[in-house]
Amino acid sequence: MKTRKGVILAGGLGSRLNPISLAISKQLMPVYDKPMIFYPLSTLMLAGIKEFLIITNPYHLNSFQRLLGEGEQLGINITYECQEKPDGIAQALLIAETFLGDSPLVLILGDNLFHGNELLPKLEIATKKEQGATIFAYPVSDPSRYGVIDFDINGRALGIEEKPLNPKSRYAITGIYFYDHTAISKAKLLSPSDRGELEISSVNEMYLNESALDVQIMGRGMAWLDTGTFDSLQEAGEYIRALEKRQGLKVGSPEEVAWRKGWINDTELEKIAQKYIKSGYGEYLFELLKMRS
Ligand code: G1P
Repeated sequence: MKTRKGVILAGGLGSRLNPISLAISKQLMPVYDKPMIFYPLSTLMLAGIKEFLIITNPYHLNSFQRLLGEGEQLGINITYECQEKPDGIAQALLIAETFLGDSPLVLILGDNLFHGNELLPKLEIATKKEQGATIFAYPVSDPSRYGVIDFDINGRALGIEEKPLNPKSRYAITGIYFYDHTAISKAKLLSPSDRGELEISSVNEMYLNESALDVQIMGRGMAWLDTGTFDSLQEAGEYIRALEKRQGLKVGSPEEVAWRKGWINDTELEKIAQKYIKSGYGEYLFELLKMRS
């Protein structure tokens, strides 16, 4: 199997966070002690992804490059593309066409934050699947805000609807999608929806119609956090803060994942720790080295 590549969609205008999102990309805003994009980036790194494309809007490209560069400090490779207009999540597949070639991929939304014990085993299963797609469904109290999937009594997926007024289930489709290379040709068949977007739900529906869609349920032990509004952004920060304080372990540190995976060595981790020494972040990275020795 060809190596799976990662696409992080960090475009959009973040209009629901205006005025704070006027000059700063939403996906660079802090979620407690890290820029938001660190979380989806670490999630994909946990899944073993080493080759990344980050899609941003043209205004914020430089900021992402300043933060992450080409990724060599994390033992990964990052390239960038711009999304000129936010025309839908499925547009990311079209923008990523050259980067992807005929590799399988995982697409993650730059503002989606996942945490929990089940995460790693679920990612491992999804990443090993050579053909078709895997998506993740999560029970929420307000499914109308999302893509919604419903199931028959045997748990088989029946249908997908984007932001339905009368949702057929409580299961929202989260913003992480594992696809084989046919996702690109599927995205090419799309035309804009009523809200003027190329819908990722339509790509998922095509896989479903081909009986090539695996749906994994993320259970109640998992956190899938939203960061799209003032309140949810603040709450996500509070969640991370509470967890990190209690455990003394960070959530969503790409440096830690890179080091634990052996993609960077002790000296390289130390170098990053030194750079961040004035904030607790650097101290934490030093702690990791000490805890291990
Ligand atoms: C998008 C997708 C939706 C999915 C959600 C996850 O919604 O269209 O299917 O459930 O992301 O965050 P949007 O961000 O466009 O509201």
